[in-house]
Amino acid sequence: MCGIFGYVGATQAGGEIILDALRKLEYRGYDSWGDAVADVPDAKIGFGHTRWATHGGVTDENAHPHLDCTGRFAVIHNGIIENYRVIKDRLIARGHLFHSETDTEIVAHMIEDAVADDPDRDLVSVVREVFAQLRGLNAIIVMDNHTHQLTAVKNVSPLVLGEGDKGFYLASDALALIGHVDRIHYLEDGQVARITADGVSLWSATTGATQAPNFEPLTLTATDTSLGIYPHFMIKEIHEQPDVLRRIGREYTDPVKELAALIRESYGAFLVGSGTASYAALSGSYLFSRIARRHVNFTVGSEFKYQEHFITDRSLVIALSQSGETADVIESVMAAKQRGAKIAALVNVRGSTLDRLADFSIPLGAGPEQCVLSTKAYTAKIAILLMVAHELNGSLHVARELLWQAVDGVEQAIAPESANLIRTIAASIVQREHAFIIGRGLSYPTALEAALKIKEVSYMHAEGFAGGELKHGVIALVEKGTPSIVFSPLDETRDDILSGAMEMRSRGGMIIGVSPERDRVFDAYIPVADVGDASPIVNVIPAQLLGYELALLRGHDPDKPRNLAKSVTVK
Ligand code: AGP
Repeated sequence: MCGIFGYVGATQAGGEIILDALRKLEYRGYDSWGDAVADVPDAKIGFGHTRWATHGGVTDENAHPHLDCTGRFAVIHNGIIENYRVIKDRLIARGHLFHSETDTEIVAHMIEDAVADDPDRDLVSVVREVFAQLRGLNAIIVMDNHTHQLTAVKNVSPLVLGEGDKGFYLASDALALIGHVDRIHYLEDGQVARITADGVSLWSATTGATQAPNFEPLTLTATDTSLGIYPHFMIKEIHEQPDVLRRIGREYTDPVKELAALIRESYGAFLVGSGTASYAALSGSYLFSRIARRHVNFTVGSEFKYQEHFITDRSLVIALSQSGETADVIESVMAAKQRGAKIAALVNVRGSTLDRLADFSIPLGAGPEQCVLSTKAYTAKIAILLMVAHELNGSLHVARELLWQAVDGVEQAIAPESANLIRTIAASIVQREHAFIIGRGLSYPTALEAALKIKEVSYMHAEGFAGGELKHGVIALVEKGTPSIVFSPLDETRDDILSGAMEMRSRGGMIIGVSPERDRVFDAYIPVADVGDASPIVNVIPAQLLGYELALLRGHDPDKPRNLAKSVTVK
């Protein structure tokens, strides 16, 4: 999952335009970056790439763009060409010299091959021909140093086309076009775009028929993507949660009612998501059971295909995703669609693949989330699922009341006093290698999400468990001083989870209690508001902050953790 960007226009293309765009796309991969400008008198054409390594190490040779043997064609790419190996062997046998270990480089040589007999062949038909041979989810931009045009094509991996007064742009994410364009077109799967100084043209990659762009206004602004007063996007986005939750409580009645109606009509509903989104989905499954007395299945995106067999044309699949580009979730949705299921989506990025694939899509309205760690999109998903569960139970007003309490609870949890407490606790455990996090019921998915936040950004091995699973093996890992975070809301899980805490303490665990009420088993206590079934929203905030503080103490960049990227567009 890389970030790609291209530009043709009246302004000098090299330098700032590409660099500025790659900075905005860096959350998609930050192993290496590269750019190229066509050497025409005033260089009005250029493109760039920021990489998340999938094929080949983090080396200069593997950094994009990749050229063919003649140097005429340069290629940048986001995705994985699943059948690149056989094609590469064929090209090597035909005498092509490769300089990188990447899958991407084959595309440049395939194009070189395709124009070998006729260098003036129309590049759009060449790119169509080459793209038809590639397997996998890919977005590709080709720069031709002879005709000074960019040709782009995509299949699932995102690509946005932008038109501004200074030129035409292509990018993996509309974020990179802020300040350059006021209207955008989301390339459809199997759509080819050619950009020259004179304008943009679109074709179907399969039929070759010309197509018209479907431009829509770009609503994102520079404020959405700037740090403002904050040192990192992670802490900025944590602090944006109260406003996001307030807006959901105020403005989401209609979409909530519509999703509830879809669930009622369906014969079996299924929640699916990956990573943090999967923990929001799991929380949803608990909320639907507790509040709506309704069983809604849940699975992680990468496992869906092994459990999809009972999906029918009466099923509803509810897909959760911040980026709307996670390949495992997209693949699940496509498989469910093939079985005739209806698709609903809770997605943050408008115009993303999931947003466009879904029959019914609820935008999270959390604003751009640029820190690789998902925070505000997570609590936004849970807030919407809480409202849907109460709508199914005919008690939507209760959900709204709980959300207002949760807003206050989040504001309390991010207030300077709480932040200082978390900073102190972080300092007391920063040297520890392992941490365990337990919760029961609704707090079980919260424990999983808390562990993920700490793992992702501090690289401390944190593991979340269902509190009842402790004595079935996990407790063997607890030793003197092991940080043990215990989510203990004032609900039916309290007694059992506190006895779990007691068991960990008797093995030397250092108990960090997250609860509306202190208990003497706690060595450290993080007070949180008592917000009933909205507890997953409030209780996760201390874990978000703890991860952030541990990252700072350990000298890590909270926004760009190693080996990760914001949207995982590869399977
Ligand atoms: C969360 O902090 C991670 N970045 C990751 O687990 C993420 O939640 C997962 O990749 C799913 O992303 P999505 O919500 O964009 O689909």
